Amino acid sequence: MLEKFTKWKANLAATDLSDQAEEGQLPQHVAIIMDGNGRWAKQKGLPRIAGHREGMKTVTSTVRIASNIGIEVLTLYAFSTENWKRPKKEVDYLLRLPERFLNAELPQLIENNVQVRLMGTTEDLPSYTLSAVEKAIEDTKHNTGMILNFALNYGSRFELVEAVKLIGKQVERGELSADMISEQHIHEQLMTSQLKDPDLLIRTSGEIRLSNFMLWQLAYSEFWFTDVLWPDFKEQDFMEAIAVYQKRKRRFGGV
Ligand code: IPE
Ligand code: IPE
Ligand code: MG
Repeated sequence: MLEKFTKWKANLAATDLSDQAEEGQLPQHVAIIMDGNGRWAKQKGLPRIAGHREGMKTVTSTVRIASNIGIEVLTLYAFSTENWKRPKKEVDYLLRLPERFLNAELPQLIENNVQVRLMGTTEDLPSYTLSAVEKAIEDTKHNTGMILNFALNYGSRFELVEAVKLIGKQVERGELSADMISEQHIHEQLMTSQLKDPDLLIRTSGEIRLSNFMLWQLAYSEFWFTDVLWPDFKEQDFMEAIAVYQKRKRRFGGV
């Protein structure tokens, strides 16, 4: 696990990154906003969906790398609650991708001991998307390796609204008084209640924003942005993000 990353680092040309990376910890939870598929396609004179098809290859390679180097949780933002605004043809294509990805990759995920999870609102998802993901969750539920958490039809504000509603109902039922509501309590109502917060957030394609992604959970995460478009995001880029993370000093408000 860590050895593989250390070996990779040793091979890295003697940049200032490789000097200190040794000291740092691997991020346990990496969250990625996979962005830039459309622009990648446009640059090549191709339809946007060609970018999504190519982006799926990056999902495959990134999952393999993350699992190999010992990342504990990889959360991938695959479809936001706002992405329904896109043309129907593109939405349909995007929502076919989980099925295509899992059809191709599930055996490999099982072999690599990966646990598939889903974060998002399932009601609005087409049945083919949901059944593919549910099958993958079921088939990998006894695995003990990396958690591969797909954010699908996920929006952080929606998640927070739902959490507030759940808490409101507990208060209504008299199970809780308003004064008892704590950070831990809110955490427990979120879709990430079983996960630790991301240590590292990566966003590709040069956009410097969160686009409604994990607003609560990213409170103390380290952010790393790159201009590289998601279909062009390679092992080297991923390793650079991790090496930069390892050089960061996380203070959490302390000294
Ligand atoms: C990311 O690429 C894929 C999703 C948002 C689902 P985009 O489709 O957003 O690509 P750009 O931002 O238009 O280049
Ligand atoms: C964020 O990317 C959503 C996903 C990567 C799934 P978008 O491309 O939808 O974000 P905006 O619209 O540029 O903020
Ligand atoms: Mg985009």
